[in-house]
Amino acid sequence: MKRYTITTALPYANGPLHLGHVAGVYIPADIYVRYLRMKGDDVVFIGGTDEHGVPISIKAKKEGVSPQEVVDRYHNIIEKSLQGLGISLDYFGQTSSKGHHEMASEWFKFLEAKGEFKVESSHQYYDEEAKQFLADRYLIGTCPQCGSDSAYGDQCEKCGTSLSATDLINPRSTLSGNTPVMRETKHWYLPLDQYETWLKDWIESKKSILKPNVYGQVKSWLDQGLQPRAITRDLDWGVPVPAEGGEGKVLYVWFDAPIGYVSFTKELMAENRPEFAGKKWEDYWKKEGDSTLIHFLGKDNIVFHSIIFPSMLQQMEDYILPANVPANEFLNLEGDKFSTSKNWAVWLDEFLQDFPAQTDVLRYVLCSNLPETKDADFTWKDYQARNNNELVANLGNFVNRAVVLVNKYWEGKVPEQGALTLEDEFVLKQANETALQITNSLEQFRFKEAQAELMKYCSVGNKYLADSEPWKLIKTDEVRTRTILNVALQVVASIAHLSAPFLPETSEKIRQMLNISLKGWEEAGVQHVPAEHQINPASLLFEKVEDATVEIQLSKLTEARKRAEAEQAKVLPQKDNVTFDEFQKMDIRVGKIIAAEKVAKTKKLLKLLVDTGIDQRTIVSGIAEHYDPAQIIGQQVSVLVNLAPRAIKGIESQGMILMAEHSDGSLAFVQPDKSIKPGGGIA
Ligand code: 2FM
Ligand code: ZN
Repeated sequence: MKRYTITTALPYANGPLHLGHVAGVYIPADIYVRYLRMKGDDVVFIGGTDEHGVPISIKAKKEGVSPQEVVDRYHNIIEKSLQGLGISLDYFGQTSSKGHHEMASEWFKFLEAKGEFKVESSHQYYDEEAKQFLADRYLIGTCPQCGSDSAYGDQCEKCGTSLSATDLINPRSTLSGNTPVMRETKHWYLPLDQYETWLKDWIESKKSILKPNVYGQVKSWLDQGLQPRAITRDLDWGVPVPAEGGEGKVLYVWFDAPIGYVSFTKELMAENRPEFAGKKWEDYWKKEGDSTLIHFLGKDNIVFHSIIFPSMLQQMEDYILPANVPANEFLNLEGDKFSTSKNWAVWLDEFLQDFPAQTDVLRYVLCSNLPETKDADFTWKDYQARNNNELVANLGNFVNRAVVLVNKYWEGKVPEQGALTLEDEFVLKQANETALQITNSLEQFRFKEAQAELMKYCSVGNKYLADSEPWKLIKTDEVRTRTILNVALQVVASIAHLSAPFLPETSEKIRQMLNISLKGWEEAGVQHVPAEHQINPASLLFEKVEDATVEIQLSKLTEARKRAEAEQAKVLPQKDNVTFDEFQKMDIRVGKIIAAEKVAKTKKLLKLLVDTGIDQRTIVSGIAEHYDPAQIIGQQVSVLVNLAPRAIKGIESQGMILMAEHSDGSLAFVQPDKSIKPGGGIA
């Protein structure tokens, strides 16, 4: 039995998870952990949300709520959706927790006391209006690499280049829009340059086990030479810097976040759960526990988990270093990058709402198409095809046939095995072979290949039944039919075991049909169902995904993107065309406001008396937040006079005042630029 500490990169708690996050990190990690647990290893499986950093503060400011409110909201959404997908984390923490703040402070204080940090003053951008230094995303400007004019102080999202604030051309504050000034400030730096030699040796010692994409990226960072890295920021949201002169500063989000893996393990062990009886958090993190630490993450996090966090762990002295960092590349969606701002995403929580019975289908499709060595693409057509052609037609069909036939001919009592043919023996032996192949692939973090082995074994079972046709043979040779169906059920039972890491719900349903419990991984290939054992009736494992479902999802995607684009451009999408005759039906006139007052108990409404040239009439208008009633008497306005009267808050409104909307939502009257007598037509 080995001990393992398995972590999943902590997503920022400022939005829900999309399938890109899930494929890159959670699916492989969960498969690996379920496999280790089945082997009987001692595993702790840790995740949580990354709750500090500038984007979270910005979101909170925009919404007018506290950052804590934002992160709690998304933490809950994310945690629930991961549970829905069967991601079997032992703990899902929050970096805003007291326990995490304490742990991160302790790390800082330990390293500070050792004299590990350099403290240096430098000039950094400062917003004089907002009275604040402009860390990372509080600064926007032109990217020196690609010329995009919306690059941030830490990164250009257009071309992906990592930037320093001073790299930006024409920098502006995202708080006030002003050009910032330079002001002196003090920060703590982790001297990565001093760790370069041991980091190089360490990475080289791992060359043969690291995935080539990981090794390549780390090597290129190391070859470029490492610079000291600031690990504090002038911000008010985060873990306060516990040192003299640290007032008004917090730890850099990338310094505190990975410590979260440790804090969360400690928080978990404090819960005294029976499955961790007698275990301490130190067993999973300190050298004395001899645990194997593996970080699952996406490629944008490689440098943090294979250079920065290992440097921190190493300087903490008695901590273990990661044994591997099996990072994935990115998953795209229908040919384009996932994008939160463009709303080009399949959100996990929405998927689970739309398809509550298809969690294993999603796990299956994502695993079949993991971006293990290069970027991959999720498409709804592929989702449909893999479900219909592989899960329904192969796995589901085989299990169903075997279980249905035994129920049909022997009322669910497993028939006995007679003399075995070479074919029977081959089919049975393949269970062990498949287990070995899957083990080999999983140990090398090749999840796609591992799942493909499982499906290959389902095909073996399918072919076995198709070739031997027990539904026909029963008429002529019952003895042989008994053996065939006995063998088929042994294969089904092995599939129940071999599928458990990948498709946990399906595995459970099969075990329920066979009336067996889950054994260890080593036993996946043994025969699990003795003769006379009573099984249950068949239940459906997978259902076909119809074309209409795919179309609905595709149009949901494009609609969401259109809405996001319109919102970003602050331009409403054009409405459907009207004919000239339809337009002519509208009677729009110049009017003049004669009286105005607020409508009681409403925030938005004004009751206006308007001279339309035809008459003086009452019009209720939603402009109270934009105009003071006293200030608008005598204003010229445009009035749609033949709008059918309607009652608003008990007042009959006889027309509509036309307003223009500014991109910030404020309203302005649409007025002629010369004085026109009330009643003048507008066309
Ligand atoms: O890139 C991200 O989404 C980060 N929040 C990942 C942090 S992983 C770890 F270090 F906590
Ligand atoms: Zn750029």
